[in-house]
Amino acid sequence: MIMTKLLCFLLTITLFQLLELAISRREQVTTPPLPVLPLPSYTQLKWQQREIIMFFHFGVNTFTDSEWGTGKENPAIFNPIGLDANQWISAAMDAGVSLVILTAKHHDGFCLWPSNYTDHSVKLSPWKNGHGDVVQEFVNAAKARGVDAGLYLSPWDRHDPRYGHDLQYNEYYLAQMQELLTRYGNVREIWFDGAKGPNAVNMSYYFTEWFAMVKELQSSINVFSDAGPDVRWVGNEKGFAGSTCWSTINRTSLSIGNGSIVDYINRGDPRGTDWLPAECDVSIRTGWFWHKSQSPKRLSKLLKIYYNSVGRNCVMLLNVPPNSTGLISEIDIQRLREFRKAIDTIFSANLADKCTTKASSVRGGKDGGFGPENVLDSDHLWTYWAPRDNKNDDYWIEIKAQDQEGLKFNVIRIQEAIGLGQRIKEHEVYVDGKLVAKGSTVGYKKLHRLEYGVVHGHFVKIKITKSRAPPLISSIGLHFDPYWHPNNEQ
Ligand SMILES: *[C@@H]1O[C@H](CO)[C@@H](O)[C@H](O)[C@H]1NC(C)=O
Ligand SMILES: *[C@@H]1O[C@H](CO)[C@@H](O)[C@H](O)[C@H]1NC(C)=O
Ligand SMILES: *[C@@H]1O[C@H](CO)[C@@H](O)[C@H](O)[C@H]1NC(C)=O
Ligand SMILES: *[C@@H]1O[C@H](CO)[C@@H](O)[C@H](O)[C@H]1NC(C)=O
Ligand SMILES: *[C@@H]1O[C@H](CO)[C@@H](O)[C@H](O)[C@H]1NC(C)=O
Repeated sequence: MIMTKLLCFLLTITLFQLLELAISRREQVTTPPLPVLPLPSYTQLKWQQREIIMFFHFGVNTFTDSEWGTGKENPAIFNPIGLDANQWISAAMDAGVSLVILTAKHHDGFCLWPSNYTDHSVKLSPWKNGHGDVVQEFVNAAKARGVDAGLYLSPWDRHDPRYGHDLQYNEYYLAQMQELLTRYGNVREIWFDGAKGPNAVNMSYYFTEWFAMVKELQSSINVFSDAGPDVRWVGNEKGFAGSTCWSTINRTSLSIGNGSIVDYINRGDPRGTDWLPAECDVSIRTGWFWHKSQSPKRLSKLLKIYYNSVGRNCVMLLNVPPNSTGLISEIDIQRLREFRKAIDTIFSANLADKCTTKASSVRGGKDGGFGPENVLDSDHLWTYWAPRDNKNDDYWIEIKAQDQEGLKFNVIRIQEAIGLGQRIKEHEVYVDGKLVAKGSTVGYKKLHRLEYGVVHGHFVKIKITKSRAPPLISSIGLHFDPYWHPNNEQ
């Protein structure tokens, strides 16, 4: 009896000790650093990781060889006899795209869906005897393949007589927006363009009401406009972000359709109080709509756009216009495949993978979980190198080749752990002690295509010379881009 009690007592003590040990051990686990505001929302982070999204400009302009319709087009001209939205989605998937956006209505006012509020739509076209719905076919095809859908609804309407009359037009616009956001399931992005007709000088677009209703009707949608609220325009239609591009900006200083903000939205603002990353819209062809006379851009041009958008902390929105048959032209499909193949060729292998890493300091020491080796794992968001919290430190991280042969590359990829804020203001890259690249912001992804071509070396050191707080780097890549020839760029 006494023995049992003693045993119980001893056991209890041991349990307590184990528990204490466990608690004290847990206390040693280093916590992640505090974020630096502002931060992305969940849907903004998802959007950023898509990297490339696709735009489909399609409508009456496809049949009139024009870019801006007049609004006087006869709906009878809209007759895409071979329309197959599955083919559009296949083309998008060939390019590795997970979100596609359709122009449900462009400036001409013609609606690709049978809106209850106008007859200027597919209802009056011969296509499917007026029973067709391009928006429905588009979202069905996307959904069937696991691709997300987005919609563009032009505020400018050159057809509807209500345009120019403040209240009536805003009600009409909102009614159509409600149709699009309630009839077709999940919509992941809605695209607002600030263009306005000269007959609308006395009319405002009720953006505040529109955006509020968008958020009410869809839970995981990003609203794109010159000024967000979720994604901002990059300020041009060439697909180029500023070489400095912050995802942060002051939204209060932005107004939609205001030409004087283009430089500000192209660069962002290191002191910006809002997270509002930029989207770079560009067409694979000269125009946004299909024209028989135009052909897709060269691969080298598309890659340059990729480096200047995705490689500058933005998302690339690539327009690929369906033709008047209702299909993406074969030459565009070929170009999209080449483009994807090139990106995979360049980035699927990371020459840094077999390297060792070293850093100026590590938060929580060697076993804190924030070591430099984290930049070589496959998680590009939530595992990262974090230095010790000390304002006087120099911050650097080094990648060292393990074999004699060393490393041969011409592209350097750096990614920040933006889930904790965009921090880096200036950085430099050295190979065996020689400066090979320098830049300002990094953000989700910074790609340096080396100006002097291929470098060969054993040590790659990235110095962060200015940052808003200790830099957190989630990924580093050293890549070889066989398409890059700095001396004969084009
Ligand atoms: C609007 O259109 C839909 C689909 O075409 C139809 O089911 C609905 O009854 C219409 N609503 C009104 C108020 O006419
Ligand atoms: C705008 O309003 C002004 C003043 O009421 C009027 O003179 C002008 O004709 C209007 N313009 C348009 C395009 O309606
Ligand atoms: C346009 O933007 C500039 C620069 O931010 C600003 O000064 C101006 O007031 C804006 N204009 C309008 C009409 O909002
Ligand atoms: C943006 O807002 C911040 C905080 O109010 C301010 O410090 C900064 O100067 C603003 N940026 C510009 C360009 O005005
Ligand atoms: C549109 O593209 C399809 C598929 O590439 C092609 O078969 C068709 O002829 C094209 N239509 C026109 C009008 O060029």
